[in-house]
Parts: sequence; structure tokens; C-alpha cells
Amino acid sequence: MSNSFRLDLTRRPRRMRRTDALRGLANETSVLPKHLIQPVFVIDGDGAAEPIASMPGIERLTISLLIEECRELLKLGISAVALFPKLDANCKSDDGREATNPGTLVLRAIRAMKSEIPEMAVITDLALDPYTTHGHDGLLDLSTGDLANDATVEVLAEMAVLAAEAGVDLVAPSDMMDGRVGAIRAELDASGYELTGIMAYSAKFASAFYGPFRDAVGSSTSAGTKSLDKRTYQLNPANRREALMEIALDEEEGADILMVKPAGPYLDIIREVREETELPLAAYQVSGEYAQIMAAAQNGWLDLEKCRDESLLAIRRAGADMILTYFAKEYAKSLVE
Ligand code: PBG
Repeated sequence: MSNSFRLDLTRRPRRMRRTDALRGLANETSVLPKHLIQPVFVIDGDGAAEPIASMPGIERLTISLLIEECRELLKLGISAVALFPKLDANCKSDDGREATNPGTLVLRAIRAMKSEIPEMAVITDLALDPYTTHGHDGLLDLSTGDLANDATVEVLAEMAVLAAEAGVDLVAPSDMMDGRVGAIRAELDASGYELTGIMAYSAKFASAFYGPFRDAVGSSTSAGTKSLDKRTYQLNPANRREALMEIALDEEEGADILMVKPAGPYLDIIREVREETELPLAAYQVSGEYAQIMAAAQNGWLDLEKCRDESLLAIRRAGADMILTYFAKEYAKSLVE
């Protein structure tokens, strides 16, 4: 190495990377607990928590365990959860009618949460997949074998009103039927729930990264046989313009928050949406994104904390205001340890 060789440079970007203090000053993006939403799986009864094999560290919780979990989350600064029910097989049917039972599990969970820990923001999915034997997000039209769009939307709007009555803060239609955001908004308003918000799964792609989630809610296969194909309603992963069109429609129809899902493989979409809209933007780091980091870490191939933190940072940098992530609690814990 020669000590006399000197480039004649005016700009040396490395100057600002020299120390922690300087790097801190130049830091552009942060991930704080208030940006995170913890998805949680809820089960009936008063038994023990159930681990989910493909999602190490995540468990299905009974309502009373869920309340305890939420108290811990609140202490860590996480004040929003997205609730997903896992129903017993005997509650599922072809038409998913349990979804509009006023005593159904998810509504009982919302009521319990709103009475015990009202400061926790509660978000529930609107879609029929936890309730149908075939695992699809809506009603199947037997004559075509495809989902019946408008009939499904009617059920989703009814689910929205029930969730609002139970006290939910935001309903999150995750079904990708056409026109559902507008119909849900109208039905909520007509029922006196003008202040119940809609977090729309606007650009939800037909992704293979939802696999572990489908294990968690028991919807991996259609009628226990063939693996689920949702390409007639979820977006083609190849399509960026179509995603922007879905975003524009949900905005027009009255969504309060727009969402891109999955997150990591769709950072370009997050960035474009951020530039197209003034609405708050959510990104969902889905079960498969979580599972791949966990699996590699368990093999000793990746550093869990560093990869987790980098994956969340990238999603915020792309332009997401908030992130639904299974890492929420562990991330928040790492900040206080
Ligand atoms: C169902 C729903 C899915 C997810 C959230 N809501 C799965 C699907 O569309 O099949 C996926 C979440 C995840 O993978 O973490 N409407």
C-alpha cells in the first residue's frame, strides 16, 4: 500500500459514516414500535397456546391469553394488533356462514379486548377464508367454480357492521373482491359507524409467501385436498400498473389506509404507491417472509436480529408508514433490552 497515493476528491461520502454519532445524524429511516402492528391468531376455549410449526415463535392464543399478550405489547409500545381467528373444523361450511354469527370467536375477542384494554387498536380481517371449508376468501359460485363477487361483498359488509358493533377500530378487507371498500363504507355509515375505519388490502398479490399463514388458520388446502389458488382475485405478481389501479379504486371508494402485501418482494410497489397517494400506507410482511428469516437463522445461516431489523427498515425506507409484521413484539423488545 502506498501512502503517497491521494485521489483529488471534493466529495468523500465516507466522512459521514466514520462514527456512530455521525452515522446517527445522517440516518434517514427508523422503525419504531408505534409503526408496527402485531398479527395475532386467536382460538376458542381456555386451553394452552398452540405453536405453529412453520412460524417459530408465533402461537395461537385463547382470548384470555390474547389479553395478557396485548398488555405486554402495550408495555413495549406496540398499540395495534390484527386479529385472525382459527376456527374448529365444525364451524366451517361451504358458505362460511359462521362469519356473520354475532357470537363468533373474533367478535368475542374484539369485545373482550375493548373492555379490558381499550387503548389497544384492534384491526380485523374481512374475508371468508377462516370460515369456509374450501378456504377461499368468498362465496363459491358453483356454476362457474369461481368466487361470486357481489354476493361475497354483501357478506363482507355485514361482517364489517358486526365488527364495528363489537368495537373494532379498523376493518381490513383482505378478499380482493371488486367494489368491496365502497360497499363496506356505505354499510358502516348507514349503520351509524362513520368512525370505524377501513384498512384496505389494496394491492394484495397472489403470493406463495402466504403458506405458513394458511397453516396457522387452517386454510392451506381447498377442502383438504388441492392447494389453494387465489389468482382469480389476488393480483398477478407481474403487474405493477394493475396494482396502482387497485390502489386508486380503494382510495376513491373511501379507504382510510392502503396496503401493499407482501412487503419485502414488493418494495417497488410500496415506493410507487407512496408517491401516488396522500393516504397512510401499510405494508404486510407476511408469514413466509417471517418464516424464511426464522428458518435461515435456526440453521445458523443468517443473523436473526440483524436480518429482521434490516427487513423492517427496508420496508419503511420504501415508503410504508406502518408494517404488519410477526416480528413486532420481538423487535420492540430488542429496543428496551
Ligand atoms: C386471508 C389472508 C391471508 C393473509 C392475511 N389474510 C392469506 C391468503 O390470502 O390466503 C396472509 C397473511 C400472511 O401470510 O401472513 N384473506
